[in-house]
Amino acid sequence: MPGTELYGAEERKELNDVLETGIFFRYNHDAQRNNIWKAKDFEQEVKNITGAGYAHAVSSGSAAIMAALSAAGIGTGDEVIVPPFTYIATIEAVLLLGGLPVFAEIDETLCLSAEGIRKALTPKTKAVCLVHMCGGMADMDAIMALVKEKNLILVEDAGQAFAASYKGVYTGLFGKAGAYSFDFFKIATAGEGGIFVTNDEHTYKMADSFCDHGHDHIGSNRGMENHPVIGFNFRISELHAAIGVAQTRKVPAIREKNRHNKAYLENKLAKVNGIGFAKVCDPDGDSATFLNLLLPDTESAKRMVEEMNKAGVSGFNYWYVNMYHFINQWEHIKELKTTSKLPVEVLGAPQDYKNLDLPKTQEVIGRLISFGVRCTWTEAQMDELAKGIAACAEKAMAVNA
Ligand SMILES: Cc1ncc(COP(=O)(O)O)c(C=O)c1O
Repeated sequence: MPGTELYGAEERKELNDVLETGIFFRYNHDAQRNNIWKAKDFEQEVKNITGAGYAHAVSSGSAAIMAALSAAGIGTGDEVIVPPFTYIATIEAVLLLGGLPVFAEIDETLCLSAEGIRKALTPKTKAVCLVHMCGGMADMDAIMALVKEKNLILVEDAGQAFAASYKGVYTGLFGKAGAYSFDFFKIATAGEGGIFVTNDEHTYKMADSFCDHGHDHIGSNRGMENHPVIGFNFRISELHAAIGVAQTRKVPAIREKNRHNKAYLENKLAKVNGIGFAKVCDPDGDSATFLNLLLPDTESAKRMVEEMNKAGVSGFNYWYVNMYHFINQWEHIKELKTTSKLPVEVLGAPQDYKNLDLPKTQEVIGRLISFGVRCTWTEAQMDELAKGIAACAEKAMAVNA
């Protein structure tokens, strides 16, 4: 959790600016706010890192992905290709907007593959909601070629990949719109928060209005603003934005440390029997928030998890059994359990969610064990962790010998 590892005086200073004015609302109150605009500053910091033409701060990464899909024109009855390995928010956003998720295969990048997307295409496919998982990035050359060939709308959930890039382009900026999360567990946190990004002015304006009850934000009298579209409240508070400002400024340094620490561990583990790594399509663009181990098969990964639990090696996720990141545990999605009827229930799901055939995804996630990379690790701590991982891998692999 790198962002929270470095919480300190900088965050308190930004927070204090807001506490002194007492203006927690991101809009208006120009006379009282003493020129303190933390949501705007937060957006600027994200633009500085990513080069995004437009950024809009919202209350969560989930809100940002909802805004990205909506502003890209995804709505009722639209088939959207999604990955079965993601945080559940991606799927929820598609469903709540009335879209129809179509699950496709991922590969060793941990993201949707172009091949997987191609196989899932139907004449009704409107969009792909690509998720850049575990700090890395999808194979963007192959995916962009397909998106162009099939004239698809691309929306990117880069909730876990803020500050990651592929051949110089930052995740979130390949398609029509993108989203980052700044929740408590990310490379930078706002406590709770998210950022919507795009390079397209109209898409930005749609998101800006969508996230604040449709307001056009023209002028300084909120009561007199027009409402070009129907929206909702996904606003960020100035307090959360203030933390986001200080944290985002730390991201280049965090990323450098993460990369160093990830490379240090990979180097130590590279020769350990049975341990491989997830594919990072552009290692120079890795945000390096996760060290993603790939074991030879699901059985050895399960044994490895058992050994690590016995040995007290901690700080990892075995996503295969994780309740919120992998489709195998999404009973409520498979059964379409809803509080009130959603369009997917009325229109019919495009796939039988209870009987999906995704062997490649099952194989990759079965083999995957991810360690959160800490930017404050010392070499001694990393040596000990590498020793622990190697010893457990040896035991897990001994069965195969
Ligand atoms: C890929 C992905 N998308 C979206 C989200 C949702 O972000 P938030 O928790 O800020 O709503 C997350 C959070 O973990 C995520 O990992």
